[in-house]
Amino acid sequence: MAGCGRDRNFKNVKVGYGFVIIFGISMIIFHCYNARRQSYKIPTLSWTLQPSEKEWRELLQMVHNVNVSEKNGSQGENHGSRACQPIKNIFFLKTHKTASSSIMNILFRYGESRNLEFAFPIKIHHFNYSSFFSTLSVFGFPARKRQPYNIMCHHMRFSLPQVEEVMPNNTFYFTILRNPVTLMESSFAYFRESPCFTRARNLETFLSNPSRFCQKDLSNSGYAKNVMTFDLGFNHFGPDFPKNIKLLTQTVDIIFDLVLITEYFDESLVLLKDALCWTLNDVLSFPLNARSDRSRRILSRETQESIKRWNQLDWKLYVYFNNSFWNRVEKFGRERMKKEVEELRKRRAQISKKCLYNQADPNQLNDESLIPYQSGSARVLGYNLKPALKKHEQELCDRLVVPELQYSEYLFTKQLKRATP
Ligand SMILES: *[C@@H]1O[C@H](CO)[C@@H](O)[C@H](O)[C@H]1NC(C)=O
Ligand SMILES: *[C@@H]1O[C@H](CO)[C@@H](O)[C@H](O)[C@H]1NC(C)=O
Ligand SMILES: *[C@@H]1O[C@H](CO)[C@@H](O)[C@H](O)[C@H]1NC(C)=O
Ligand SMILES: *[C@@H]1O[C@H](CO)[C@@H](O)[C@H](O)[C@H]1NC(C)=O
Ligand SMILES: *[C@@H]1O[C@H](CO)[C@@H](O)[C@H](O)[C@H]1NC(C)=O
Repeated sequence: MAGCGRDRNFKNVKVGYGFVIIFGISMIIFHCYNARRQSYKIPTLSWTLQPSEKEWRELLQMVHNVNVSEKNGSQGENHGSRACQPIKNIFFLKTHKTASSSIMNILFRYGESRNLEFAFPIKIHHFNYSSFFSTLSVFGFPARKRQPYNIMCHHMRFSLPQVEEVMPNNTFYFTILRNPVTLMESSFAYFRESPCFTRARNLETFLSNPSRFCQKDLSNSGYAKNVMTFDLGFNHFGPDFPKNIKLLTQTVDIIFDLVLITEYFDESLVLLKDALCWTLNDVLSFPLNARSDRSRRILSRETQESIKRWNQLDWKLYVYFNNSFWNRVEKFGRERMKKEVEELRKRRAQISKKCLYNQADPNQLNDESLIPYQSGSARVLGYNLKPALKKHEQELCDRLVVPELQYSEYLFTKQLKRATP
């Protein structure tokens, strides 16, 4: 089937796990509620949330006052010559600080518009992170389960055997990785209050002697070292012998049908929509959970090298999957990729012109329900929508900018209502 690339080789996976898995570290309540956040009000759907091609053309036309031809619309969804069925059983490992919130928004919108069944965490916002994922943390599983789950995409520390108990056997697995250098700069700001970071005056101090500040058994040490390796379920303090690195990369390669790269986000979206047999409109998104530039820092070469050393497993993982990502682009066709990325950007620009008034600091957002969760020293930006949008525009625009916690709660409630008529 399209997109469901290859069979997972379970024997290899088990071996990989045996080698490198360690036990979870104790967890502190991290994703606590943001006191300022209001309960979320999304206008209910009357119109299709995910507009049809025709509706999109009309929407874009309103913006530009030009006709977007059929050709450039639906035929932009070039799936080569292959006929394919859109994939709807999806597992997304949501890694930390990798633009994964924007991917989650895409999955939320796709699932909502098609009434797909989400596997929600009991804690609503994450599957008992940073413990290993267990089916016990899935809301209503298995007692209240009405039908197979389609989408699972909340934060977790990955454990394949447990995920497989929940998700159908033809599930498409994917995740996203980011350059560990910028990732570390971001997580230092965002997770400033986690025990590994609190005692360090700044990132440079921390890196001058990281093992003084950060030991494996400190709570949330997963945020401070090899965070992607940790989220993938491996030992983030594991030795970086070539043998381990090979095992790590191969295991991830076998389990995941696709690994996206944050630095090439638009190319990633194109590969994703191709693998899932979706359309460009399905993967349209705005940056969510982005930091204000004021809390961003430029790193010296020396600092960058220290980060790579401290996060060697993540670094090797990233280099490997960056390479396989571009091999995949090569197979897809460079020229075709360039065209589709252009088309995606064009549509994003058009929709943002329609929807967005501005991107702003949390205290400058008019609608309190659109304020994103804030953490550490990072100022997480939100959006103000244009006033006086038409109803169907409002429905779409709202969903494109609503922060993930609010959207998740909304979907959770909606699904619960559906389950108990
Ligand atoms: C756009 O297309 C519609 C029908 O396909 C046509 O009626 C309309 O005049 C066109 N508008 C422009 C600006 O070309
Ligand atoms: C459609 O695509 C063609 C060829 O790529 C381009 O010349 C044309 O301007 C596009 N039309 C619109 C309305 O975007
Ligand atoms: C969540 O994690 C804690 C700490 O590791 C553990 O004690 C608890 O049993 C876990 N709960 C679920 C539902 O998995
Ligand atoms: C996958 O699941 C379906 C439906 O639950 C089942 O009929 C099928 O035998 C399973 N396939 C494999 C390879 O386990
Ligand atoms: C990722 O791949 C691209 C394309 O091959 C390359 O230009 C870039 O240097 C790579 N990045 C890293 C960190 O290896």
